[in-house]
Amino acid sequence: MSDHDRHDGGTGCFRCCFSFTLTLGFASLFMWLSLRTSNPILSIQDVYIPALNKTLNSTSYQSIYLDLKLDNGNKDKGIYYYPINVTLHYINDSIADTGIPISNYTLPGFYQGHNKKARRKSWNETYGVPWEAAVKVVAGGKFAVFRVDLATVIRFKILFWKTKKHRLVLGADFEVNDLGKKERKKGTRLKSGAPELFSGQSPVAVLLVVFSMLLLV
Ligand SMILES: *[C@@H]1O[C@H](CO)[C@@H](O)[C@H](O)[C@H]1NC(C)=O
Ligand SMILES: *[C@@H]1O[C@H](CO)[C@@H](O)[C@H](O)[C@H]1NC(C)=O
Ligand SMILES: *[C@@H]1O[C@H](CO)[C@@H](O)[C@H](O)[C@H]1NC(C)=O
Ligand SMILES: *[C@@H]1O[C@H](CO)[C@@H](O)[C@H](O)[C@H]1NC(C)=O
Ligand SMILES: *[C@@H]1O[C@H](CO)[C@@H](O)[C@H](O)[C@H]1NC(C)=O
Ligand SMILES: *[C@@H]1O[C@H](CO)[C@@H](O)[C@H](O)[C@H]1NC(C)=O
Repeated sequence: MSDHDRHDGGTGCFRCCFSFTLTLGFASLFMWLSLRTSNPILSIQDVYIPALNKTLNSTSYQSIYLDLKLDNGNKDKGIYYYPINVTLHYINDSIADTGIPISNYTLPGFYQGHNKKARRKSWNETYGVPWEAAVKVVAGGKFAVFRVDLATVIRFKILFWKTKKHRLVLGADFEVNDLGKKERKKGTRLKSGAPELFSGQSPVAVLLVVFSMLLLV
């Protein structure tokens, strides 16, 4: 066996090993890309609280209007929503740190196709809002602060199968002015308390990407 042959054999083995690693790396990267799911983006688009509308000058009508937007940004994955629990609080730190519960209701679950947006507009009763204080706050040129919390369970639909259940718990504060409207014209995005990485991605997906990175390096 000449040196030349030996050298050739080594290169061949290295090449084979390298392309195997590369293929495996790309395969796991591709799998990660196609299995990766993003949580839907939920936001409050519109709010109306007639009791805070200064023109009406009356707190006798105590319902709240909320316009919720659900945006499935996944290019090729649908989302099954289980019933969505909505809870509203009035924020007054001098009465309760966690806010005063003022309304809760449940929106029915539904299926949302990929790249689809949905709106859920609802009028709901409130209870226990300290209206006198709230009216005083908005009349003084400040804003009444409310908090919306949302809890549901979702499953993603990837081709013909459904992923396991993911709990989706989101919330946001919003300010209401003396017109009874949300002060911020733009939508208010509901956020999760947990870090994105652990709430959105499955551990398998994270493992796969770490694995493919190791192979590629
Ligand atoms: C406030 O009430 C007045 C009188 O009913 C009404 O014309 C106006 O549209 C209300 N404001 C909003 C923001 O709906
Ligand atoms: C609002 O209503 C109260 C009585 O309900 C009245 O005294 C007050 O003048 C009204 N204010 C406005 C701005 O219409
Ligand atoms: C939900 O609202 C009802 C009244 O509609 C109230 O009795 C109940 O305590 C509320 N539940 C929570 C968890 O706030
Ligand atoms: C809240 O609004 C939704 C949607 O309009 C309705 O289905 C539900 O019955 C309401 N719940 C309460 C407690 O008012
Ligand atoms: C909070 O509650 C206190 C005591 O009832 C009241 O004086 C204050 O105006 C309230 N503030 C808001 C923002 O509602
Ligand atoms: C929504 O509320 C119902 C009734 O209180 C409860 O059984 C269910 O677990 C809640 N869903 C979530 C996702 O928290």
